[in-house]
Amino acid sequence: MKVKVFNDHETMSRAAAAAMAREIQKNPRTLLCLATGSSPSRAYELIGKRAQKSPALCRRVRIVKLDEWEGLDAGDPGSNDAYFSKHVIGPWKLPRGGVAGFTRGAKNPDAECRRVRAWLASHGPVDLCVLGLGVNGHLGFNEPASSLPPFAHRAVLAAQTQTHSMVRHAAVKPKNGFTLGLAEILQSREILLLVSGDAKRLAIQKLLRAEISTELPASLLWLHPNATILCDRAAAGDGPPPAS
Ligand code: GLP
Repeated sequence: MKVKVFNDHETMSRAAAAAMAREIQKNPRTLLCLATGSSPSRAYELIGKRAQKSPALCRRVRIVKLDEWEGLDAGDPGSNDAYFSKHVIGPWKLPRGGVAGFTRGAKNPDAECRRVRAWLASHGPVDLCVLGLGVNGHLGFNEPASSLPPFAHRAVLAAQTQTHSMVRHAAVKPKNGFTLGLAEILQSREILLLVSGDAKRLAIQKLLRAEISTELPASLLWLHPNATILCDRAAAGDGPPPAS
């Protein structure tokens, strides 16, 4: 895995947006898998600015959501649907139906996971997967555990995840979420992991040990031939840049 350390969140986001734009320009029908959360939102905003100047930029881009909280009310601003509307669909000028993935509030979770798995099997693999790192080392809602389901599944959220900023306001915190599995993530042609802020320092230090364990789900990215960590100095710490 390559590791690139940037001075701050802004320069990290610019590098991520440039990589995404390159991918979109190379393949206008590219399939992106996108995380939500604070780590990638500035990068998404920068793609939005490019789309303002070139409205056709993302017209044919396909997107699949990495994950979705379960149990939030319709219209809850913390849902991944609300996040995508605000940060991606509108600003990128995506056509209606341009985002695939888990349906929030799906009545039959197992059937929903099978549907998303089948969708990816027929439309995938993902060309570029943009991920954030959980403070506990999770990817999507693949939470630290002694074993992990490889494919799309309904996960039990770790206590730390239930306090994530997206759901901090929620009167009833989601206890479960839908997520793509590590096998589906690792089938992506290219992966960017965005890591920003000192709250991630412990998780990134563990990740940079390059020891693979499902107790640190992000460590499975070491198995991928084309994965890059884009990290800001606040997360990386003040020491010398980590070895790649
Ligand atoms: C959340 C989401 C992930 C996200 C991660 C980091 O729980 N399920 O998809 O990447 O945690 O979020 P943030 O970037 O806000 O720190």
